[in-house]
Amino acid sequence: MKVLAQSAAIIAMAMATAAQTTCDLPSTYRWTDSGKLAEPQAPWVSLKDFTTAMYEGQYLVYATNHDNGSSWGSMNFGLFGNWTEMATSSQNKMNFSAVAPTLFYFEPKDIWVLAYQWGPTSFSYRTSSDPTDPNAWSAVQPLFSGKITDSSTGCIDQTLIGDDTTMYLFFAGDNGKIYRSTMPIDKFPSDFGLESTIIMSDTTNNLFEAVQVYKLEGQQKYLMIVESIGSRGRYFRSYTADRLDGDWTAQATSENAPFAGKANSDATWTDDISHGDLIRSNPDQTMTIDPCNLELLYQGRTPGSSSDYGKLPYRPGVLTLQK
Ligand SMILES: *[C@@H]1O[C@H](CO)[C@@H](O)[C@H](O)[C@H]1NC(C)=O
Ligand SMILES: *[C@@H]1O[C@H](CO)[C@@H](O)[C@H](O)[C@H]1NC(C)=O
Ligand SMILES: *[C@@H]1O[C@H](CO)[C@@H](O)[C@H](O)[C@H]1NC(C)=O
Repeated sequence: MKVLAQSAAIIAMAMATAAQTTCDLPSTYRWTDSGKLAEPQAPWVSLKDFTTAMYEGQYLVYATNHDNGSSWGSMNFGLFGNWTEMATSSQNKMNFSAVAPTLFYFEPKDIWVLAYQWGPTSFSYRTSSDPTDPNAWSAVQPLFSGKITDSSTGCIDQTLIGDDTTMYLFFAGDNGKIYRSTMPIDKFPSDFGLESTIIMSDTTNNLFEAVQVYKLEGQQKYLMIVESIGSRGRYFRSYTADRLDGDWTAQATSENAPFAGKANSDATWTDDISHGDLIRSNPDQTMTIDPCNLELLYQGRTPGSSSDYGKLPYRPGVLTLQK
């Protein structure tokens, strides 16, 4: 046992050394698509707004769902180790509705956090020590009790990220603005309060929704992606910053050369590359991604499909950055 433990430690050190290789973000992105990864299980007709973190070496995915009537809800998938297994993974109903969820492990307090919209306050959260159990989450708590004006949706699509001292909440409003709120990391998890700052402004189409913010592994650099409305479908624009409270610089923002969209992926089953999550190399609040191995879990749908917004046939897919 002791010899095995020592070998394991040596292998872990070798892997840590290998993992120190860092990559810059490409200036031009090209993605290979997985195709549609799963169909919703009855009674759901739509699966969307994916959030994913690694749990014991496997993918843990939460999502919004919609039934064939008028009800929104949320679910998780049973753990799987390969995207090809998502189609046969269990789809587990939640007994509360966590729409547009954000899942991560809050390392300072050794607790998992699920944040979401449409609870009692603009954004809500629950905690759990077993995030694989969709119904082991705590009672609902306020995450952000503020409100925004000049938005028909109000606050939507929160995401959270922390550095050594501070937790940051970023969100959208379907109105061309990105908002930020902060709290000291030792107060988290709790209510960010009433205040938020508009940190970016553009047209409604350019800064629409589904904002996500990540730290680049091994670098003092952050990546923000925002879902935009294009002429050929939804796509993601990207921005970078040196600090989470810093200014964001446009990186890949045109529909013809976006972060991810119809123009730079070989996806054929969907025109939309929409609300999702980059695969993180660490499940914790640092939201760390490895730019040497970028993968985007996204929602797509059959081109030309139409129905009530809630019943649009969204399904999961994964884009892998071409090297
Ligand atoms: C949803 O309802 C419509 C209209 O009633 C029906 O045509 C369709 O088959 C239903 N879809 C599912 C997946 O049940
Ligand atoms: C996932 O499964 C596919 C198909 O079986 C296989 O080609 C691929 O290597 C697997 N990926 C991993 C990371 O195991
Ligand atoms: C959800 O299920 C859990 C576990 O069975 C239970 O403790 C909790 O009270 C349920 N919550 C609701 C809102 O039904």
